Amino acid sequence: MNTTTHEIAPDIFRFSTFVPEVTPQGFTFNQFLIRAEEPMLFHCGPRAMFPLVCEAAQRLIALDKLRWISFGHVEADECGSMNQWLAAAPRAQVAHGQIACDVSLNDLADRPPRALADEELIDLGGKRVRFLFTPHVPHGWEAGVFLEEHSGTLLCGDLFTHTGNGPALIEDDVVGPALAAERMFHAMSMAPNTNATLERLAALQPRTLALMHGSSFSGDGAKALKELAAGLAPNA
Ligand SMILES: [Fe+2]
Ligand SMILES: [Fe+2]
Repeated sequence: MNTTTHEIAPDIFRFSTFVPEVTPQGFTFNQFLIRAEEPMLFHCGPRAMFPLVCEAAQRLIALDKLRWISFGHVEADECGSMNQWLAAAPRAQVAHGQIACDVSLNDLADRPPRALADEELIDLGGKRVRFLFTPHVPHGWEAGVFLEEHSGTLLCGDLFTHTGNGPALIEDDVVGPALAAERMFHAMSMAPNTNATLERLAALQPRTLALMHGSSFSGDGAKALKELAAGLAPNA
């Protein structure tokens, strides 16, 4: 395994590790570092990838500067290495929604996390991220995403997940590959609020979609989110 680094928006870096054994086309595991006065890591990666991702991060910032750690929901690829990061980065604190903290992170994290309300803002100094509580979207009661407001980057976790090892950033169709992967994985929770949640994210009009699995997307994020919602609809 090796980990590549690309800047997908100003001072927003994607670390990507391709694992050929997962799915016939292989699968990427991506983390994002927002470089700011208070840098933030979104997705920790699984424990086994920690040395690779940590090395990639250290090429951009000193670990003792890392201030915030977050992720979409509580799963091994999202936060398996959370406590390794907390040990390596003494100023870092996990930040996540109130439900994630109450249900899991107050117990799982080696230092107390910061619980965020829906729409709460963290000013990173030069960047600012707004937490959006998205229960069960894409999956997990505690699920949430962040919008980095300066660049219009939606850190959207498992939304738009697709297979293969494409470019770091694409401008063409991200929805088709995502719907094809969904037919294979059945990873989306189709809850009563799923469509409304995707519409709410579309209303933010993101210009970049930062994906945990697959290429990030630059373009009309609202259109992509609406097309994803339409493609996931039960009768689509
Ligand atoms: Fe997930
Ligand atoms: Fe994931």
